[in-house]
Amino acid sequence: MDFGLVLTLGPEITGTIYTPMIVLGIETTCDETAAAVVERNAEGQGRILSNVVLSQINEHAAFGGVVPEIAARAHVEVLDSIIAKAMNEAQLPFGALDGIAAAAGPGLIGGVIVGLTMAKSIAFVHNKPLIAVNHLEAHALTARLTDGTAFPYCLFLASGGHTQILGVRGVGDYLRIGGTVDDAIGEAFDKTAKLLGLGYPGGPLVEKEAARGDPERFSLPRPMAGRHDANFSLSGLKTALRLEAEKIAPLSDDDVADLCSSFQQAVGEVVMDRLRNGLRIFREQIGTPTALVCAGGVAANQAIRKVLHRVAFEIGISLVAPPPALCTDNGAMIAWAGAERLALGLTDTLDVAPRARWPLSEVTKAADQAVIPEAATAAVRDP
Ligand code: KG4
Ligand code: ZN
Repeated sequence: MDFGLVLTLGPEITGTIYTPMIVLGIETTCDETAAAVVERNAEGQGRILSNVVLSQINEHAAFGGVVPEIAARAHVEVLDSIIAKAMNEAQLPFGALDGIAAAAGPGLIGGVIVGLTMAKSIAFVHNKPLIAVNHLEAHALTARLTDGTAFPYCLFLASGGHTQILGVRGVGDYLRIGGTVDDAIGEAFDKTAKLLGLGYPGGPLVEKEAARGDPERFSLPRPMAGRHDANFSLSGLKTALRLEAEKIAPLSDDDVADLCSSFQQAVGEVVMDRLRNGLRIFREQIGTPTALVCAGGVAANQAIRKVLHRVAFEIGISLVAPPPALCTDNGAMIAWAGAERLALGLTDTLDVAPRARWPLSEVTKAADQAVIPEAATAAVRDP
């Protein structure tokens, strides 16, 4: 975006300043339109002043997944009222804010453009610093907002778009320990639900069916298990499930429950195997983590949660699991990541680009980190 004006905003920001601070966060990278106001005090503790999330699930349900064009249009329609609601609930005028943060990627580019442009406009009009937040960094830092978790910690991020094991060493300092080579875990749950005619989003529906099914009835593969690295591959599991379902079609209710249960069991075992490796690699390369932290919608699954508790317990650390509303996409995590960056003097200029792809390995402590010309490329999933 070219405002044809001075691109640096607000007062000169250098070093660690601006404490305490209040930041507005905007999230529009997928199918949630969200805005929140968060305060970070001088000691680095966070407080959520408002957190408004509007899910577009109903708009996409008929299509069995998120339709990017519908998502972008829906963000345009509601974002201003969501922000107004967040400011109202926080009982603050824009002038009281210390910074405006928006997720600048990775995500569906139409939605990212909507949120980032809105943040730029507010920052410009009210002469406030802009912080272009990486959506994955926001997930990664949420445990510091909710639990004050100290660095370094190991993050297991599993959502519909991402599956990653990360070493979180500091703000803008991430080691990617593992990731998926094909589908994200949430995506695999969603595709399984679609195949079995359960609806969207699939994770909670598969979990519900799995609870009354037999996890041993179908012998599904445990892709990547036993390998030395910490990467995931889910597409083979999904195909194996489809073949089993085709063999016994038409499916009875019990068949569906048993398929869900066998699938969830396989995913759980894969997560256990991959995370054990991930934590080993963490200790080899970083040292002892302060905690295992989970984020993303999949962390709401009780069977997966049990696995996370178990692997954390095995090495004598605790599991930090932010409440589900802060594990899934929300504005508070964007506002908090914005506040953490602002506290370090890291802000962005108005020409910062939205990015469909933006791996955490490219997130640094440098200000204006997101000004990268090849910004808006096509891919959305796990960067
Ligand atoms: O973090 P999230 O709300 O949004 C993004 O994808 O960014 O995660 C949504 C994903 C969906 O794929 C959904 O099916 C999955 O998380 N999910 C679950 C459960 N709840 C949500 N997967 C398994 N079990 C659940 N209970
Ligand atoms: Zn997310």
